[in-house]
This record gives sequence, C-alpha cells and structure tokens, in this order.
Amino acid sequence: MKKRDFISIADHSSADIARILDLAGKLKKKPASYATLLKGESVALIFQKPSNRTRVSFEAGIFQLGGKSIYLAPDDISLGKREPTADIAQTLSRYVKGIVARVFAHQDLLDLAKYATIPVVNALSDHSHPCQALADVMTVHEKFGTLKGIKLAYIGDGNNMTNSLMLAAAKMGMHMTVATPKGYEPDAGCVRQAADCAQATGATISLMRDPVKAVDGADVVYTDTWVSMGQEKETARRLKDFKGYQIDAKLFARAGKDRIFMHCLPAHRGQEVAADVIDGPRSVVFDEAENRLHVQKAIMVFLYSE
Ligand code: CP
Ligand code: NVA
Repeated sequence: MKKRDFISIADHSSADIARILDLAGKLKKKPASYATLLKGESVALIFQKPSNRTRVSFEAGIFQLGGKSIYLAPDDISLGKREPTADIAQTLSRYVKGIVARVFAHQDLLDLAKYATIPVVNALSDHSHPCQALADVMTVHEKFGTLKGIKLAYIGDGNNMTNSLMLAAAKMGMHMTVATPKGYEPDAGCVRQAADCAQATGATISLMRDPVKAVDGADVVYTDTWVSMGQEKETARRLKDFKGYQIDAKLFARAGKDRIFMHCLPAHRGQEVAADVIDGPRSVVFDEAENRLHVQKAIMVFLYSE
C-alpha cells in the first residue's frame, strides 16, 4: 500500500475526514484503544518553532499508542541548513515509523513527504495547520451535534489557521465567513480548493471585510493571533492594521444564541480577543486543546492501520 501523509485537509476526501473525526470521538471515550499500534516503533518530531499543545499532545498520543517520540529541536536537525531536506527524509525513514514536522516554509513539509518512505504529518507551517482544524471541527461537532449547515465566522488574520479551517469547513458542509483587513486575506490557492470542494458538500465560504457582517448569526466565532510565529518583526504594523477586528463582548453578542468562541491558542487577551470573551462561559478553547490529542491519535490510526 502506498504510504499516506497528512499535509493538507485538501488531500483527503470528506469521507476520510469524517472517519478520522468519528475515530477521534471513539478514542476520546476509550483512550486505551490501539495501545499497541506503535509498539516498538518511534516517531520523529521535527520542530522549527516553539509549541505547547502540538508537541505535548503528539508526544502523549504516540506514547498512548505504544510508541516513542523523538523530539528534534531547531538546532538538533537544522532543517534546511545542515543537509538537504531530501537526505534528512531518507535518513529518518531508515530509523522511525513517521515524521511530525512544524516548519516555517511549507515547501519543507512537501519535500519531507516526497522523499520520506514513511508518513509525514503537518504540525503547522506558514501555509496550514490541519491537525488544529480537525480538532476544531471535532469540538464544533461535540457542541452542536452536527457540522453540516453550521455557520463559522473567522475574524482577523487570514493565516495558516484560516486556510485549514476553510478546507475543513468546505469538506464538512459548513458555512464559513472570513473577515480580514485588506492585504490579510487567506491563501488564494486554499480559497479556490475550498470553493471547489464546497460545490460537492453544500458548504459556502465567503470572504469579506466587515467583522460585524461576518459574525451576524454565527454559531461559532473563531479568531487567531494577529502576529504568527515568524512575523514578530511586523508586530507594530499588524497591531495597527487589525484595529477593529478584536472579538469583544459587543461583537460576540452579534452571533447566534447558542454561540461558542474558539481560538487555537496561544491567545493574546486585549489584542485579537477580549479577556471576558475568551475566559467567559461560551469559550471552548480548552476543549479544542484537549481534542488535539484525540484527533491526532485518530490521524495516526488512519495513517498506520488502514
Ligand atoms: N494551537 C497550537 O498549535 O498550539 P502550540 O503552538 O502550542 O502547539
Ligand atoms: N497562526 C499561529 C498559530 C499558532 C498555533 C502561528 O502560526 O503562529
């Protein structure tokens, strides 16, 4: 069987995404399932950027599946600096059963996947964050009992998170509105992929400027940092450009009566979200964080056992 990767949600069918989500729900109920899936095996974690949720949930998940994780910090492996990415991929393929990589340039992930003979998982790149988006739609499903027809409003920077959320929404028949300032729209390629996929699932993806219009009647209000990892030099300009895009109590109240607030974390209270919203009763940010563990275990089962 050809090896599978998990690089972009666009690479997988709606049926496969639904299967992963279903499996994640089962693993949440019975965390000891598949406890020998990775017995005697190791998985390499290549991280070019810091991480709390992704690193810890992958390490814990690999352990729960019977395997061992090998964490490789930026200076250990020096992706793209010490030797060609193709050589890293081919070498690691001789030692471990999989690669989980958090990179700056998405192309590095594509190169790892191309040259590795083992599965490669996207643990965040400048282009996308598919593991987070799946944990997010799992959380939405838990709260509303369905994904089809759910309205998700994303406000702020059209970044890696937006790209993956649009693809997940499109695959699962959701309605997503994205409000960004000019110049901060999500990736045009992902918008096209999401639009193509939406035709088959009944989803809609709408880009706009006005956060009030985007949030109006939404079931889910989602935001992410205005300054992603690697953009620190642009902080001053970004804080200025995103003025008016904060999810505060007034904007959040425009959403539907059963509204929930979502954020992938880390969050910046007083910037993209007001403290009383993220720390308020409708915030589900730690459920999202928890679901990273279950969804990533399900992704590994999907990659290794089928
Ligand atoms: N949401 C998320 O990926 O968090 P970390 O950067 O802490 O892994
Ligand atoms: N957009 C953020 C997500 C962090 C999980 C970043 O890339 O820094």
